Amino acid sequence: MKNIVLIGFMGTGKTAVGRELSRLLNMKLIDVDTEIEKSEKMTINEIFERFGEARFRDIETDMVKKVAQNKNVIISTGGGVVLRAENMESLKKKGVIVCLTASPEKIFERISNNADRPLLRVEDPLKKIKELLTFREPFYKKAEITINTDDKNPLQIAEEIIERLKTKGWKK
Ligand code: S3P
Repeated sequence: MKNIVLIGFMGTGKTAVGRELSRLLNMKLIDVDTEIEKSEKMTINEIFERFGEARFRDIETDMVKKVAQNKNVIISTGGGVVLRAENMESLKKKGVIVCLTASPEKIFERISNNADRPLLRVEDPLKKIKELLTFREPFYKKAEITINTDDKNPLQIAEEIIERLKTKGWKK
């Protein structure tokens, strides 16, 4: 059956929710950023620092193309994957797109304890989060299913996703 593709801004819980979904549905989880780090033998931060965002986006598009060819897997993406229409076209071919959302304040709270978001290494991360969210909102809105994650844990969110998928006739 179709892949489950998790999209959404940084700090909306894609990786943690992906892990829960993988456990509950007994499906393999593929995390695009992790695959990039493995194949480039560098962290996402290092890729941004050494080659810049544009180069990262090219690497991301190549990896998305590759990962999207799988069947019956959960794919967790990086927050900026929606910025290129061709990424979404690849992912949609074999997958149902699920978007996780959260308020800027919640996102700020969640990302504050780790430094591996190069785009948010700025003086005022909350302001940057708001700006990026405003710009990206129309892209995230195109998802088939949208789930708000404020005040929910990954298990609750995963269960909600499964319910919503079932009402849409998704079967494993
Ligand atoms: C990015 C999100 C990150 C990572 C990179 C760029 C973005 O992934 O791909 O830092 O542009 O939103 P997460 O959403 O998993 O943090």
